[in-house]
Amino acid sequence: MSLNSNGSMRKGGKSDAILDWLQMFSGVALIIFVFMHMSLVSSVIINPDVMDKIASTYEKNYMAQIGGPILFLLFLFHFYLAARKIPFRLDGQKTIWAHAKMMKHRDTWLWIVQVVSAMLILVMGSIHMWAVLSDLPITAARSAARVQSGPWLYFYLVLAPLVIVHVVAGLYRIAVKWGFIRNAQRGKLNRFATGLAVFFICIGLATIVRFMTLNA
Ligand code: HEM
Repeated sequence: MSLNSNGSMRKGGKSDAILDWLQMFSGVALIIFVFMHMSLVSSVIINPDVMDKIASTYEKNYMAQIGGPILFLLFLFHFYLAARKIPFRLDGQKTIWAHAKMMKHRDTWLWIVQVVSAMLILVMGSIHMWAVLSDLPITAARSAARVQSGPWLYFYLVLAPLVIVHVVAGLYRIAVKWGFIRNAQRGKLNRFATGLAVFFICIGLATIVRFMTLNA
């Protein structure tokens, strides 16, 4: 069973199950990408030359020029698959909201957080990828100049925690939904997910601070 766009339940068929699998696989690929991306960009904290070296290696292998647009398509595909379950109509939203309040169920609230963060990430992630990929090559100095200009600092201060919360919540939901975790282990999974989120949010914020203090 899954939700219609108006929030009512509908019976899922075989194609629904395939789309669910595709949603999980595209989600896992994006989770891996985000963790790698945050780790690689954070190399600027160690030394801007290290970030430049990593970026130039990527560009020499066309991973930014070709991999970037492929990633963007994967990003849109994942949103398209997830959007099947998002109630876009007001009556559907009211139903979900009422259920969440009635059930006081943490996982239902987590789902709402994931849906709202997904909408913002779709817009902000697209703007970010466009800004970076239309201004190649990637260097620490260029990135620092961008972060220090206009509204970009505030943009990244919102995007970084939002992406981490979305990705870690996704990881948690995959583990629960696909039965990788038994009910008794939920507490442990919850602590692990919180620790992971705090760790990557700290890395992301430290990276932004480093860009702000770098001579652009
Ligand atoms: C082809 C894909 C991507 C490339 C080449 C890329 C590259 C970069 C670069 C060079 C920076 C440094 C800041 C700047 O130059 O403006 C950065 C920062 C950042 N990127 Fe990406 N990015 C990509 C995709 C994404 C996606 C899909 C997300 C999440 C939706 C994302 C989230 C962030 C965040 C939050 C920061 C701020 C720094 C941090 O907190 O680590 N990026 N990215």
